[in-house]
Amino acid sequence: MFSPGPFFQASWQAWRRFFTLSWQHHRLVQALVPIRSLGPRHAPRIQAHLQSLSPGDRYLRFGYAANDEQIASYVQGLDFERDEIFGIYNRRLELLAMAHLAFSVDPQFNSCAEFGVSVLAPARGRGYGARLFDRATMHARNEGVSLMFVHALSQNTAMLNIARRAGAKMVRDGPDSECHLRLPPADMDSRLTELFEEHMAQTDYHLKLQASQFRDLLKVVQEVRQGVREARNHPSP
Ligand SMILES: CC(C)(COP(=O)(O)OP(=O)(O)OC[C@H]1O[C@@H](n2cnc3c(N)ncnc32)[C@H](O)[C@@H]1OP(=O)(O)O)[C@@H](O)C(=O)NCCC(=O)NCCS
Repeated sequence: MFSPGPFFQASWQAWRRFFTLSWQHHRLVQALVPIRSLGPRHAPRIQAHLQSLSPGDRYLRFGYAANDEQIASYVQGLDFERDEIFGIYNRRLELLAMAHLAFSVDPQFNSCAEFGVSVLAPARGRGYGARLFDRATMHARNEGVSLMFVHALSQNTAMLNIARRAGAKMVRDGPDSECHLRLPPADMDSRLTELFEEHMAQTDYHLKLQASQFRDLLKVVQEVRQGVREARNHPSP
């Protein structure tokens, strides 16, 4: 039988956790950044995001300086059904930051997942990388993952900071470092928090989409007006 007590308690915990996380990240505004799960429709924006990374950042992200074709084939190969891709959009629907949580293809290791992330250079230092890590961690937990991996170059201080702060263990092997984070099992709090965050992010995205479509419409109206004005001022003989 459904008992409302634990449900309301977990729901309250989800709200509390959400706002506590906010303060842990120092700035409320930072933590309120909506992170949404991306589907195949977002592939062109994912590709544009990755292709706008500098060669150095591509090297940090993929472990080699991927060229545009390699990035295109990485995006084409994304499995949106099995894996989870998260993104942060600005109001012009430019993908500022994205993360790929890849689940193991080997059923023997189905309690493991790997995390990869990138943030556009002008949007760094605002906590987006850390927020995406937290979001991916929560999703991984809810999917029954108990061990999350991040491969990073040992020089990648920002990525290592994110993983370390979340409690990951680091194994350094020369220029490479591997971080692994043990995750607790999912509970009602983690499930409700994820539902709440996803719902908020979807709403935010649709508002941005409508605003962007409305701006496009205004532009067309503006162009038509301009055309009419010019035709009036310079009537054809
Ligand atoms: C790594 C990356 C995702 C970090 O994104 P970000 O949004 O700037 O990170 P955050 O703002 O959340 O900062 C995370 C931590 O790193 C620190 N940091 C950020 N930039 C840093 C830098 N250039 N040098 C040292 N530390 C840095 C922050 O102070 C913060 O540490 P704190 O929590 O102890 O304060 C981003 O730099 C990036 O996209 N790099 C290229 C791709 C890449 O390296 N991906 C990771 C491998 S998969």
